[in-house]
Amino acid sequence: MPGTPPTELFEPFERLIEIDVLGEKMLVPENNTILRCLQYINMESISYGDFCWNGDCTNCQIWYQRPGEDKELSCLSCRKRIIEGMKITRLSKFIDLTSKPSW
Ligand code: FES
Repeated sequence: MPGTPPTELFEPFERLIEIDVLGEKMLVPENNTILRCLQYINMESISYGDFCWNGDCTNCQIWYQRPGEDKELSCLSCRKRIIEGMKITRLSKFIDLTSKPSW
């Protein structure tokens, strides 16, 4: 790993938890919103993305499944906290995790 993401962006956390993002296992900080966790995965892309971070723009919409459930739900990822073991199945077109992580 080339570096460490800046911790001041995140709510205090003691450990990383595993989630599934589009079929890939990822470790993200507990006790944070999903969008913040996506920022942890790709700092540059999310930091410079078109996001209001306060529930107004809807650009951060994601679809997900709770652990052990098949039903697909959707939410604004800036408003919902991460759940250990959740599966993120789809991302809004404004969320690009494919560009190279910056840290
Ligand atoms: S970032 Fe705008 S609604 Fe979530």
